[in-house]
Parts: sequence; structure tokens; C-alpha cells
Amino acid sequence: MALQKEGPVGGEGPTSFSFDAESEAEIPQILAKYPPGKQASAVLPLLYLVQRQMARASGSAWVPRVAMDEIARRLGLAPIRVYEVATFYLMFNTRPVGKYHLQVCTTTPCWLRGSEEVVKACREATGIKDWKETSADGLFTMTEVECLGACVNAPVLQVNDDYYEDMDAERVKALIETLKRGGELPRPGSMAGRQASAPEGGPNTLTSLSFEKAR
Ligand code: FES
Repeated sequence: MALQKEGPVGGEGPTSFSFDAESEAEIPQILAKYPPGKQASAVLPLLYLVQRQMARASGSAWVPRVAMDEIARRLGLAPIRVYEVATFYLMFNTRPVGKYHLQVCTTTPCWLRGSEEVVKACREATGIKDWKETSADGLFTMTEVECLGACVNAPVLQVNDDYYEDMDAERVKALIETLKRGGELPRPGSMAGRQASAPEGGPNTLTSLSFEKAR
């Protein structure tokens, strides 16, 4: 089952974790968003904080189990309360991933618009054979995901935190080659040049400034 999440890493993960100075500076701001006694709700932003710190420190955006334990300690929770959140949401990686996490949407709108071609192109360009695999050079991990909420510009490929939309085989291969070279990435969004999610060829509503005339 490609979309099934795995549990937290046990023995192969790091044996200790502490927040670095950059993360520590953010923690009070995060906690201040919740009323007294409701700091347990900060589990999600703290998991994101860990994932960003791991990416900075190791090049792999993931959440080791010892970091979940540290979040539990900070928030005064039983560790299981953090594990159950981290293992439920696909956006938290409970295993190490490559520097570039390729998340390919294969839900119906993307499938109808060519996600199979996107998957094939990702595999050919990275050498990855199966979901959740990391390429031999450690640069890429491929994950199959459900709807990313950008169906209008399907098919969608998410690279780390960015969406690349209106993808086809050629665009996927060009993007992956750029990532390999460490070159400048195209701006995220529609690779077909749409304005946001307007129809291809340009907007066909609200095309005049009629509201100005109506004044
Ligand atoms: S189905 Fe792929 S973004 Fe919605």
C-alpha cells in the first residue's frame, strides 16, 4: 500500500535530539499562540519545526523518534500523543528522505491529466524503482500522495514545500536535471504559464476593470 504511513524509526535513528538556537527562538512564539493549558495543540507546529531543523542540519527533512520524545517533554504530553500525530499526517516524514522529496499526486484529477507520465518520468530521471525509495545519490525520495488540493492545475508534483503544476514528462525531467545540477529552479506553480489557476491561455472572467467604470 503506497499511501500507508510507517511508524517512527526505532534503532536506526539518532539517539538524542535537542532544538538548535534557531528553533529555540521560534518555540516561545509558537506556544504563545495557544491559550494557557492548551499548549498540546502546538504538536503540529513543533513537528514542522523539527523537520525544518533536520533539513538544515542533515539535508533530510524528517522527524526522528527522539525528537518526538523531546516535543512530548516540552509540552508535558505522553510520547504516544506525539507519535500518533506524526504517524497520521503524510507531511511528516518518520523516516529519512532525500534532499528533494518528490511527492507525486496520483488521485483521480491528476491521474486523468497524466500523473502516470509524471511518475514514470520521475523514476527514469532519478533511477528510483518504487515508492518511498531514495535514489542512489541520496538526492531524491519518491512518495505517492493523495490530492494536494491543486487539482485545477493537475497533474501536480510537490518538491519539498513547493508545488509544480501542469507537469508532463518533459517538464519533470527538466526540473529533476536542474535539481541534480543545483541550478536555479523555476518559480513554483503552473509550468504551463497559467496565471495562478486561470484557464490555459489566460483568464476569461473579470477581464475588464468594469468595477472601476461602475464607480
Ligand atoms: S487530484 Fe492531484 S492535486 Fe487534487
